[in-house]
Amino acid sequence: MSDTAPTARVIDGKAYAAALRARIARAVETLKLRHNLQPGLAVVIVGEDPASQIYVRNKGEQTHEAGMRSDTHRLDASTTEEQLLSLIDALNGDPHIHGILVQLPLPAHIDATKVLAAIDPDKDVDGFHIINVGRLAAGLPGLVPCTPLGCLMLLKDLHGDLTGKRAVVIGRSNIVGKPMAQLLLGESCTVTIAHSRTRDLPAVCREADILVAAVGRPEMVKADWIKPGATVIDVGINRVPSLDPVKAAEGKTRVVGDVDFKEAAAVAGAVTPVPGGVGPMTIACLLLNTYTSACRAAGIEPELPELAA
Ligand code: GUN
Repeated sequence: MSDTAPTARVIDGKAYAAALRARIARAVETLKLRHNLQPGLAVVIVGEDPASQIYVRNKGEQTHEAGMRSDTHRLDASTTEEQLLSLIDALNGDPHIHGILVQLPLPAHIDATKVLAAIDPDKDVDGFHIINVGRLAAGLPGLVPCTPLGCLMLLKDLHGDLTGKRAVVIGRSNIVGKPMAQLLLGESCTVTIAHSRTRDLPAVCREADILVAAVGRPEMVKADWIKPGATVIDVGINRVPSLDPVKAAEGKTRVVGDVDFKEAAAVAGAVTPVPGGVGPMTIACLLLNTYTSACRAAGIEPELPELAA
């Protein structure tokens, strides 16, 4: 790569997410003052998965910081499906709770599909309920999965109108790939969903003005997969051995995305880093969905204030 290689703008998702959380906190304050309404989020975790414990703690803290009610239900790994369904039933009927999130993965003896289907679709702040999947596909208002919603917010902040842009989404998961594609279609992009079986994946990706990588393969997207000037959104969070061989031998790891950041930064117009790109947007959008859900339940139009510059 020559010294004159163009350097992509690095999209600061961490800063954007912090500003979004501040806007939500203001909106929550207004909701309390004008309507005596405090949005409430219930997070349910079953078992001791260490990564899930960290996610759930962060969700609880950020919910609280935004001025919302935050209830975390920590259930033992031996909890039965029936017990979990009974808790969801109670949360569905609780007027102080506007958002319900069941942290995944669930223990193997619990049917996750059945549990997600039991959540009231209007409290489904993960956007995983089949009713919300259908609403998104049909272009109807609903609750949208947090990570793709966060990606879309970053894209719209950068580009404004996305009409007519060619978008390629690598990955076809229900949580990111498929809803991301639906959201981009909703913005009038021309959308391709690519995946591990796509023929000549680099050539398909090179067509993209917007390239979203959500495959879970460390640093898979290389410089020659990217159209010069394109916007690259990296959803991947992959743990790989430390670059330092001594530390790697001690089991130390680092986190990388699905995109080779250094290579992408030399070709793309803009790129999200990992960490500090898409990751922080997920919880911010969870708060946004909880706020939206509380407003809708009360028949109030959700309104996010702009922050003074
Ligand atoms: N586990 C990992 N990511 C998520 C998420 O976005 N929602 C839920 N419910 N569980 C997860």
